[in-house]
Amino acid sequence: MKRVPPWHHCVITGGSSGLGLEIARQLLRQGVAVTLVARNETRLGMAAAGLRRQMPGANVGTLVLDVVDAAATRTAFEELAQTTGAIDTLINSAGILIEGHAEQLTIDDHRAVMDVNLFGTVNACTAALATFGDDPGTIVNVSSVAGLIGVFGYTAYSSSKHAIVGYTRSLAYEVEPRGVHVVLVCPGEFDSPMVDSLDADRTPENREHTLTIPKLSVEQVAAETISGVAAGRRMIVPGRRTRAAVLASRLLPGISDAVSRRRIARVYTGPRTSLR
Ligand SMILES: NC(=O)c1ccc[n+]([C@@H]2O[C@H](COP(=O)([O-])OP(=O)(O)OC[C@H]3O[C@@H](n4cnc5c(N)ncnc54)[C@H](OP(=O)(O)O)[C@@H]3O)[C@@H](O)[C@H]2O)c1
Repeated sequence: MKRVPPWHHCVITGGSSGLGLEIARQLLRQGVAVTLVARNETRLGMAAAGLRRQMPGANVGTLVLDVVDAAATRTAFEELAQTTGAIDTLINSAGILIEGHAEQLTIDDHRAVMDVNLFGTVNACTAALATFGDDPGTIVNVSSVAGLIGVFGYTAYSSSKHAIVGYTRSLAYEVEPRGVHVVLVCPGEFDSPMVDSLDADRTPENREHTLTIPKLSVEQVAAETISGVAAGRRMIVPGRRTRAAVLASRLLPGISDAVSRRRIARVYTGPRTSLR
């Protein structure tokens, strides 16, 4: 794997689980100091303890924070930079997913997903940029393939991930001239606790539609993310077949759409009113 540039202190939101935790593991192996951010203190502590067990001497810290709270995020990042050392890298992996037929999702579902996925990302970027000051830095925002194409059952999730794409691409034009490298990551499905809980209750149509692209391991997604950032990329879609599917959706939208519709039609049952 390509080594990252000389990063000193990387803050990872969503660092207690899944992709955030795996990126932390791989960066710690490269000697980067990492602060894991999440809301649940117990899971955060367990994640950090697990990393220290695997890598004695690893420079890993924790920050209990809900990134939906803009003021708290700003204050926490300022304090972190003062106590633990200047932050030069932010990886926004915090996210939630609510899947279901559009008529069965509530407006509160939509708001909750947008709050964490979009506004959490905006809050962390704003707070990190304030601590970067005039220094260069790196911001990595994790969107999804669902941020580039629509997906059955993801009206809330896909909206929030499309919003992250627009925010990240716009932010890049603004802050790159002052030396901040902004990276957009759009993974397809990978093994993680988020997908375990999705699997417990996802609609059959969503399962069928997402299976159009093979599931990756979290290790591969983390490794390709780190290598892509180290190589100076602005956009990373981990996995060769995922990249091919995204390219096909751009170059051959009619065919890609027809494949999706045919797969969905095979299992279509429509809204299940017993769910809510
Ligand atoms: N898994 C996939 O197949 C997949 C595919 C494409 C994109 N993604 C995206 O990749 C990212 C990571 O997904 P994952 O599968 O690794 O998820 P995960 O295992 O469920 O981990 C999510 C992390 O986000 C934290 N988090 C959630 N809300 C937060 C908040 N308001 N403030 C701070 N931390 C918060 C969680 O901790 P607490 O709950 O303790 O706060 C946890 O550490 C997400 O943005 C997801 O949308 C995932």
